[in-house]
Amino acid sequence: MRAVILAGGTATRMRPLTDITNKHLLPVGRVPMIYHPIAQFKRAGLRDILVVTGREHMGHMVQQLGSGHQFGVNFTFKVQDRAGGIAEALGLAKDFAGSEAVAVHLGDNIFGDSIAPYVKAYRDGGEQGAMIFLKAVDDPQRFGVAHIDEAGKVLSIVEKPSDPQSNLAVTGLYFYDNSVFDVVPRLEPSARGELEITDVNNHFINAGTLRSFTLDGFWTDAGTMESWKRANELSWEMDFADLIEHER
Ligand code: G1P
Repeated sequence: MRAVILAGGTATRMRPLTDITNKHLLPVGRVPMIYHPIAQFKRAGLRDILVVTGREHMGHMVQQLGSGHQFGVNFTFKVQDRAGGIAEALGLAKDFAGSEAVAVHLGDNIFGDSIAPYVKAYRDGGEQGAMIFLKAVDDPQRFGVAHIDEAGKVLSIVEKPSDPQSNLAVTGLYFYDNSVFDVVPRLEPSARGELEITDVNNHFINAGTLRSFTLDGFWTDAGTMESWKRANELSWEMDFADLIEHER
């Protein structure tokens, strides 16, 4: 299984902080935002990590991260030429993935708990189908929202619904088997002109091969001023010594 961090996009909701700087290089707690997914993957034993970002930010990204040697991981970088959506960015990971499954982490998602047990569960299950992670939130309209049955099975996901069927946001961590790279090219752009990760997930739901877990620990995105502030507060005491020990 290979690890992918999606760190592109224009981050218009974070202007003027993102006029020059890539959102994922802004601080969250005491480290750049992108250190959070890097640490999650490293702690889960996924050390070959692809970072996808836009051409205007790749220079800064490489300067900040280097080869990965100082973190004890190994980075590969891939340019997303235009902000065509999360699923489009994922499609760029095809060669990197080879024939393997992928763990995809949106670079602006901050998880309070380790993702390692979920990586293990997916691996123990033979790395088949899709796995997604839900979190109860107060503002589901901002996210992909899971419609579930009484047994908790996900029936469908709606992207940013005005009338959400539940308060369960789909977080920005996804595990897919290699068939995801056949799914992405068949997607149609949404109303906002992007290839949506929600459409990828609905494909796996319809195929009967999507599993979901509901998270207990804190989770937030850091893609708006308000959520970024919250992410900073929640993660201020987080310890990254294991990630940056090589840097000192
Ligand atoms: C994206 C996804 C959405 C998901 C969210 C998690 O939204 O499209 O389904 O719930 O990430 O952070 P975005 O923040 O890119 O609009």
